[in-house]
Amino acid sequence: MLPLLALCAFVAVPLVRCSTQETLKIPSHLYPSDHTNTSSGSPEILHHDTALFMPFENLNLLSTNDFTTLTHYIFPKHSVRIKKSDFCDGTVNAYTGYIDIEARHLFFYFFESRRNPDEDDVMLWTNGGPGCSSAVGLFMELGPCRVENVNKTTFNPYSWNDRANIFFIDQPVGVGYSYAEYGETVGNTEDAAKDIAAFMAIFFEHFTKFKGRSFHMAGESYAGRYVPLFAAEVYDQNARLVEAGLTPINLTSMLLGNGLTEAGARWRGGYEMQCTSASLAPINTISNCVRMRQMLPRCEKMFKESCSDILDAISCSAAISFCWNVIELPEGINPYDLSKKCEGELRETLCYPITKDITNFLNRNDIREILGVDPTIGNFSSCNNEKNAQFNANLDSVYPTPYYVTGLLERGVKVLVYVGANDFRCNWISNEMMTLNLDWTGKEAFNSQPLKEWNFNGSAAGLTRSAGLLTFATIYDAGHMVPYDKPEASLELVNKWLAGESL
Ligand SMILES: *[C@@H]1O[C@H](CO)[C@@H](O)[C@H](O)[C@H]1NC(C)=O
Ligand SMILES: *[C@@H]1O[C@H](CO)[C@@H](O)[C@H](O)[C@H]1NC(C)=O
Ligand SMILES: *[C@@H]1O[C@H](CO)[C@@H](O)[C@H](O)[C@H]1NC(C)=O
Ligand SMILES: *[C@@H]1O[C@H](CO)[C@@H](O)[C@H](O)[C@H]1NC(C)=O
Ligand SMILES: *[C@@H]1O[C@H](CO)[C@@H](O)[C@H](O)[C@H]1NC(C)=O
Repeated sequence: MLPLLALCAFVAVPLVRCSTQETLKIPSHLYPSDHTNTSSGSPEILHHDTALFMPFENLNLLSTNDFTTLTHYIFPKHSVRIKKSDFCDGTVNAYTGYIDIEARHLFFYFFESRRNPDEDDVMLWTNGGPGCSSAVGLFMELGPCRVENVNKTTFNPYSWNDRANIFFIDQPVGVGYSYAEYGETVGNTEDAAKDIAAFMAIFFEHFTKFKGRSFHMAGESYAGRYVPLFAAEVYDQNARLVEAGLTPINLTSMLLGNGLTEAGARWRGGYEMQCTSASLAPINTISNCVRMRQMLPRCEKMFKESCSDILDAISCSAAISFCWNVIELPEGINPYDLSKKCEGELRETLCYPITKDITNFLNRNDIREILGVDPTIGNFSSCNNEKNAQFNANLDSVYPTPYYVTGLLERGVKVLVYVGANDFRCNWISNEMMTLNLDWTGKEAFNSQPLKEWNFNGSAAGLTRSAGLLTFATIYDAGHMVPYDKPEASLELVNKWLAGESL
């Protein structure tokens, strides 16, 4: 059961009354779910009954010690536990908490904008994997502070909360500090999307000052699949919100960083990145490159015919492992940045030892207490390999994601595809192919634009192509984690995007 305090805060604070008598009068259906029903499913919309709903309104009234629980009659299976958490930024309010969907619990961080939290846009960030925590994005890339070692964080002047109120979310359940009870699990992006869309609706309904604010959904790597599905769910959910008399979420754009959006486009890109001068000088031998070039059509044909066209687990697995063998990198190179050697063990640190420091930092009991991490959660790990395997077993990445991107473009949602130019894993060649392959009404206008350089601080910062709602951009000298490698240039890119300016 929930602590009384939380229920009391939910109902009584807006009325400035807080007593146990008041608590007893709360209609029983407003109590958050008691977590005994483990059936998963999409948020079910109840009929309009505003008399029963009272927004929490003011984030500043949240406690630093205890969670306040927020519910909404329209999402009877969902609630949000949120607290103030004084950490990481120091110049703005920070909040952490859980989105509770019956037995599933998603952890989030929320930082207000450094410029003007009362007017700036709202952004949601997720890392990929599948199975990796957004703590990597927060504490290594674009968050308000960076972890230096287990005992120390430093202020990041180039954090993306420079001009945006920003969420970082550990999803799906089983990732980072997120957890589930009764063996509940989420093994595909469609199911993950429902939880995210419901969370955003509850947030905007409760914190009314953000209502109608421009909302941007962003992420990196596998989030090239996550974000289009999440955004589509938010968009489609809007119709149900309107029908129920609520304010739709003002979904304005998506930002896909070094994304895996079109699985079939990665093989050719993998070859070109190591055998041509697409970014750096070729890094593989001529003889390996010739072998690769000869095998490439077979890999692409096999991937299409025995995997993406038929979605059969066994033949997909054969095609994918064949293709990976074809485009295998030489030993010791960092696949996230071809200009670098891998530091540490790829599986353990992703070639970036800072990921270990983040893990150690997030395993400190005092930090977990500040954040309100559920005590049942064991050791933090930046990526959950079982979750990764589960998504792979469900062929999640093979299902067509570009249709979601075009669906959003056709409905007026802007799309920024940005790519660190030295990444191999989700490289710029594959992402450029993805954008050129998109089958949408702006295709001709977009595809006829040349790739040209964009400048920052007086020098060339990358390549870009843009028309209508779609922008593609590369960032020179950056790998997979662009804001880590190029913090100033990445903030420039994001701030221009938020301001609606071209590069
Ligand atoms: C759980 O929820 C589902 C769908 O709302 C419902 O059909 C089922 O009866 C519930 N089970 C329990 C044990 O309450
Ligand atoms: C962190 O602090 C602990 C306790 O003061 C100390 O034992 C440890 O050596 C420190 N580690 C680093 C990397 O500074
Ligand atoms: C959504 O945000 C845009 C950009 O900030 C703004 O122009 C528009 O009026 C907003 N729409 C609604 C319905 O609030
Ligand atoms: C958690 O981490 C500690 C310290 O690194 C280690 O001793 C322990 O075995 C780990 N527990 C689990 C369940 O992995
Ligand atoms: C900007 O340009 C100046 C002068 O060329 C240089 O010293 C500085 O390092 C550059 N900053 C960035 C972020 O590239």
